[in-house]
Amino acid sequence: MKQGLFITFEGGDGSGKSTQINRLGQYLQDAGYHVLLTREPGGTAISEQIRGILLDPENGEMAPMTECMLYAAARSQLVSQVIRPALEEGTIVICDRFLDSSIAYQAYGRGLGSAVEEINGYGIDGCMPDLTIYLRIDPKAGHSRISGRDQDRIESEPDAFHERVLQGYDSLYEKYPERILCLDAGQSIEKIAEIIREEVQERIRRRQP
Ligand code: ADP
Ligand code: TYD
Repeated sequence: MKQGLFITFEGGDGSGKSTQINRLGQYLQDAGYHVLLTREPGGTAISEQIRGILLDPENGEMAPMTECMLYAAARSQLVSQVIRPALEEGTIVICDRFLDSSIAYQAYGRGLGSAVEEINGYGIDGCMPDLTIYLRIDPKAGHSRISGRDQDRIESEPDAFHERVLQGYDSLYEKYPERILCLDAGQSIEKIAEIIREEVQERIRRRQP
């Protein structure tokens, strides 16, 4: 039986996920909760190795379905080795990206459609987030925020790809408004952090018997 709280952060590259995860994690730790921060692709030794293959700019010839399956494989390992055991112990798990990223980037961005959810279903086996914070940003604005750092294989995709990713996220939000909280990522870091804290406090209250 799952007892913890599973929170994921989603949004385009440069939307502010890492910034907000660090703030929320610190806030919850200071409040005395057991918190585990992790990220995708990655979070286990095996998943970090898969991350290296996925994001290497040298791997330009990777087929879309190979990419989809590697993300799913990294996720499967993370769920079984880290996320599920932590939730069973009552930990609050905060993950930088999860299944929604594969729907947005592989199903919409690469055009793989419904195969993505089906393939991921095997590895996730029902372990879905209780709350997803979707930081919505125009891809060009997100890109300009991270223009100073090295671009990985996915970040260097053309604008049209990132527009499809945005459409994917918006469709997910339309489909799952209860799970997904959509926030304008153009607001100040402090304002966004405050809205997230309030939502998470509410979810923690609801979880308590
Ligand atoms: P992500 O993890 O989604 O790629 P980051 O948290 O690394 O995004 O943020 C990307 C850049 O944008 C960083 O330089 C960060 O300081 C900055 N940033 C994050 N949130 C905001 C915001 N709300 N307004 C302006 N800049 C921001
Ligand atoms: P990362 O450095 O974590 O990006 P960011 O800091 O912007 O979150 O790199 C992860 C990249 O992988 C990012 O461009 C999104 C992409 N991605 C997918 O295409 N599918 C997925 O399922 C996941 C988890 C990530």
